[in-house]
Amino acid sequence: MAPSKKAGKKVTPAKKAAGPSKVAKADWKEGFKKKQAGVSDMTLLTTISNESINDNLQKRWTNAEIYTYIGSVLISVNPFRDLGIYTEAILQSYKGKNRLEMPPHVFAIAETAYYNMQSYKDNQCVIISGESGAGKTEAAKRIMQYIAAVSGGRDSSIQEIKDMVLATNPLLESFGCAKTLRNDNSSRHGKYLEIMFNSHGEPVGAQITNYLLEKGRVVGQIENERDFHIFYQFTKGADDNQREMFGLQGPEAYAYTSRSNCLDVDSINDVADWNETLKAMQIIGLTEAEQSNIFRMLAIILWLGNVQFEEMDDGNARIADTGVTDFIAYLMEAEAATVEKVMTTRVVETQRGGRRGSVYDVPLNPAQASSGRDALSKAIYNNLFEWIVARVNVSMKPRTAHANVIGVLDIYGFEIFQHNSFEQLCINYVNEKLQQIFIELTLKTEQEEYVREKIKWTPINYFNNKVVCDLIEEKRPPGIFAALNDATATAHADPSAADNSFVQRLSALSSNAHFEPRGAQFLVKHYAGDVMYEISGMSDKNKDALIKDLLDLVASSGNEFLQVLFPDRPDPNSKKRPPTASDKIKGSAAALVENLMKSQPSYIRTIKPNQNRSSSEYDTKAILHQIKYLGLQENIRVRRAGFAYRNTFEKMVERFYLLSPATSYAGEYIWQGSPQSGCERILKDTGIAKEEWQMGVTKAFIKNPETLFALETMRDRYWHNMAARIQRAWRNYMRYKHECARRIQRFWKNNKEGLVYAQIRDYGHQILAGRKERRRFSLLSYRRFMGDYLVVGGKSAFGETLKSICGFTSETVAFSGRAQLLVSKLARSSKPSPRYLVLTEKAVYILMTVQKDAGTQTVLERKIPLSVIRGIGLSNLRDDWIVLNCNPSEEGDPVLSCYFKTELAAALLRLTNAAINLVVAPSLEYGKKKEKKAQITFQKDETVTRGDVYKSHTVRVSSGEPPNSLSRPPAKRKAVAVRPITQGKLLKKGGPSSSSSPSSAAKPKAQGLPKSKVSKPVSSTSGSTPIAAAARTRAPPPPPPPEEPDVPMYKAKFPFEGQEGEMSLAKDDLVELVQKDDNGWWLVKKNGVEGWAPNNYLELVPPKPKAAPAPPPPPPVTRRPPPVAPDSSTNNGHAKPVAVFPGIAAAMDSSPGNSRPSSLHGKPPPIAAKPKPNVPAVGAKPGVPKAGGRPPVPAASRPAAAPVARTTGGVRGVPAAGGQLDLAAALAKRANKQAE
Ligand SMILES: Nc1ncnc2c1ncn2[C@@H]1O[C@H](COP(=O)(O)OP(=O)(O)OP(=O)(O)O)[C@@H](O)[C@H]1O
Ligand SMILES: [Mg+2]
Repeated sequence: MAPSKKAGKKVTPAKKAAGPSKVAKADWKEGFKKKQAGVSDMTLLTTISNESINDNLQKRWTNAEIYTYIGSVLISVNPFRDLGIYTEAILQSYKGKNRLEMPPHVFAIAETAYYNMQSYKDNQCVIISGESGAGKTEAAKRIMQYIAAVSGGRDSSIQEIKDMVLATNPLLESFGCAKTLRNDNSSRHGKYLEIMFNSHGEPVGAQITNYLLEKGRVVGQIENERDFHIFYQFTKGADDNQREMFGLQGPEAYAYTSRSNCLDVDSINDVADWNETLKAMQIIGLTEAEQSNIFRMLAIILWLGNVQFEEMDDGNARIADTGVTDFIAYLMEAEAATVEKVMTTRVVETQRGGRRGSVYDVPLNPAQASSGRDALSKAIYNNLFEWIVARVNVSMKPRTAHANVIGVLDIYGFEIFQHNSFEQLCINYVNEKLQQIFIELTLKTEQEEYVREKIKWTPINYFNNKVVCDLIEEKRPPGIFAALNDATATAHADPSAADNSFVQRLSALSSNAHFEPRGAQFLVKHYAGDVMYEISGMSDKNKDALIKDLLDLVASSGNEFLQVLFPDRPDPNSKKRPPTASDKIKGSAAALVENLMKSQPSYIRTIKPNQNRSSSEYDTKAILHQIKYLGLQENIRVRRAGFAYRNTFEKMVERFYLLSPATSYAGEYIWQGSPQSGCERILKDTGIAKEEWQMGVTKAFIKNPETLFALETMRDRYWHNMAARIQRAWRNYMRYKHECARRIQRFWKNNKEGLVYAQIRDYGHQILAGRKERRRFSLLSYRRFMGDYLVVGGKSAFGETLKSICGFTSETVAFSGRAQLLVSKLARSSKPSPRYLVLTEKAVYILMTVQKDAGTQTVLERKIPLSVIRGIGLSNLRDDWIVLNCNPSEEGDPVLSCYFKTELAAALLRLTNAAINLVVAPSLEYGKKKEKKAQITFQKDETVTRGDVYKSHTVRVSSGEPPNSLSRPPAKRKAVAVRPITQGKLLKKGGPSSSSSPSSAAKPKAQGLPKSKVSKPVSSTSGSTPIAAAARTRAPPPPPPPEEPDVPMYKAKFPFEGQEGEMSLAKDDLVELVQKDDNGWWLVKKNGVEGWAPNNYLELVPPKPKAAPAPPPPPPVTRRPPPVAPDSSTNNGHAKPVAVFPGIAAAMDSSPGNSRPSSLHGKPPPIAAKPKPNVPAVGAKPGVPKAGGRPPVPAASRPAAAPVARTTGGVRGVPAAGGQLDLAAALAKRANKQAE
């Protein structure tokens, strides 16, 4: 069953056993693809012969595929029909593609040249060769079309240059092309167009070099050929004004245009082309005056052709119609008589012994007169053409400095006519020279280069046409041109005598295998075929000089333009022979070859499939002949054996150093060795198969173009990768920055308000300094000292009532709460009685509620100015009693039982700037009445289960927790995974600011790229010490370690689970202190690893005593300098406490991305402090509270804390997870209840 292409239709599965199971799925679109005929690159031909090449070309041509490669050489077979393959879409499809990515096309050649110029900064040239009508001019136009389309053009001057370059085609085709038997648009001159580009690859100018116009065509053509197109365009298309001015008629009216009986050509619309020409002139910037002058010259030529001579009886010529010469005189702005005389006579000057003699007017016969007339016409046209080319060059002059050039050479093709004369000799000679370049560059030089570069290579035989070039151009022994020059010089007066002299001189060449003298003819065996040349008239054509009379006529003309066309008049006294036509063509061919040799060539070899301009006839014989003489077979052989690409090590390194990490770092060239070693390293590092490349002596050779394209692709990708990496690093950096900012903000938000309260609490604990036993409850968790528990300073009805009772308005409440005041009753033992306590910066207010009438009334019982308070007394047990020792007064010293006595004491100290004494003792003295002192003693009594019991000056209380107990941390939050700040490997641990780890590679030093022209290798010892080299040299052995210093050791008091950058600690771990930071985090070292740890988890391990020290004296019981209270200057009076500890804060943070380190949960809290200034970016704790050290004195202002019990306020939102605020509220409630 035949396999079906229909989708969905079941196809019989292939037998399972056949082959491996992983076969790429077939693409159904394949069936729709146009099948390529033959091979697109003939280096892939299985047999290499002229016939197989021909077969392949025929298959492709018949299949409308006119282009085929031999390596990088494009073979183009003229289709003689429009294939629709030069559209904008097709052009764009070749843009940026390498040759192998797309089917062969002239656009691919243009793209390659343009790309190479841009990438390698080399001048490029495209050499188009082939016989007349094979498609050279078409190909050249397509190259220009492509380059104009792809070469950018941001400003108008670039577009202007492009337009001009494209406009040169119709202009120069009109003046330089003609219909011949072989080609309706045959180029009758050679043209080398160079487009100059700036460093951005934009065209900034252009220049045309013109080669040998076939001027003989102006005055006559063989049957069925035409004069230059412009004459037909002009005579058919000129407007009435021009017709009037130049007496213009149709082409049939003029001898020059009508004699060959070909006025119209099917494929040509002369009138349309005339308009194109005018448009092109406009684009190029020819002024009206210049255009008019050009048309005047054309008219002069046309009219000159119509000057007819009659033979008079004496055999001399007479002008048949002087009206014509009169009109010519009018056009030339010369005297009619002069024109007439010049046309019919010649001035002859006798010479005697080198001295000038008499001057005679010699009448001419009609043939001589016609010849003189034609000479003038030819000279005017030739000079006009050269003027136009020069004028075009002026317009296309580079606007700015140019970096590189792409040249396109479109020269007349090899010609063999029935009668071949001097023109054909010149044309074929130039073609020989071009073939020489092709051989030189693709065959000979290539093979010589392999030998020179010591590359393994099998030589290929080919025909080198240098022998034919020498035959034509050699000076010694004289070649054809030299012989012709000699003949022209010796017999200058008589053309036929000169021709004879030439025949004789040519006989000397008869020994040359490529030359055969045949009487009045001679045969040259050109690379492209044997051509028989006719000698007659050759020496005259070679002489290429106007006779003096004609030059005098021009000189006498009043037309300035005509003067411009003939700028130099040969000096009749000069001994130097003026350059002949063969001298000129030889000189310009040599200049062309030299120019082309300096550029990177691309070749297009055009083939003409038939002589009939047929789109279906494939003339095998003719094509085989072209295949042979174009040397395609040898071309394939050399290509197969050779290397597709080579370049100097310097250029290779310059182009591809990015591809190896050994030669590049961050886009910089870092290779220290020679370009050769760098180049080899690159080729090795890119993983290219060894057989694909060879290192020569100065160049590296790459065998297949695919390899070069692969290198180019890698290079392209490098930039993409680099860009992606930079983008990724930048994104990572931004993410990192934002995350850091977020974490800092979050932490700050969580802590800023609570910090103040936490500071006061810490201060409170410090003033007690571990001298008072602690209540078990107060160890449950941390509680912040929020001060104004009754909201006297805030907005609450009750608080405001109390405030008004106190009678102050502007004082700030530092503390308020319930308490029990020890009230002595007459003759009865004292008893605690509930009171409200309010503390401001001025005084302590004691308020009591009394029965009044049916209800109660709160009254101010006592106001004690702070200035009268001398001391504060607290017991060393866990009770809640506090004595305020004041100046003696009637009321005595208040003895209070206050649940928040530590907070009260701290507030008092803070408000008095620690000026009052704090006593912690088992028995406290207080003034009972003015002078009467009393004591209150504290005793342990384990039978007291709740609180403490006062009776008869004794307070009994059960044992509390040890004085130095630390509160237990808040309940641990559920651990969450730590989210890293950055992902990927682009930012190192610790973030961008952390110092690089010693293992990170040193950044290599950038090197200057090797100069491509100078092959001097980069010396590895030159310049400053290269970093990479330094890195390679072995480091000196480290000095012996110094004696172990006596480092302070710390012990972990609690386990701590560290994150990145932190030190995890087990309880009792011993760590070494590396650095203390005043943000509460210390850098410690354990087992050689450093990390940050909270300092309040650490306790100093006392150094081992060297000798037993004497026990320190006991501290004095009396006044002990109190620690300085924390500075509350940052305190915001209205701030609501939010959360002091990260654990709580994190719980408040509803964002799922909370990144607070979970390891801090359940840890004893460090004391709040400013953030560490140079925090390690990752893993460091921003602003961990500070422990130890002397807290600054708080300012008098107070935080306006919301009461804990209130349902509104900053604490409300705190969830229970943290626990301690609810606990604090509960405790406060309980205390108040007790007080009541
Ligand atoms: N690629 C092509 N597609 C279609 N037609 C083409 C193509 N190339 C050439 N031709 C046809 O062949 C004719 C001759 O081509 P062209 O003028 O380029 O030949 P040439 O090689 O420049 O000849 P000469 O040496 O006489 O100047 C063109 O006028 C055109 O009609
Ligand atoms: Mg041409």
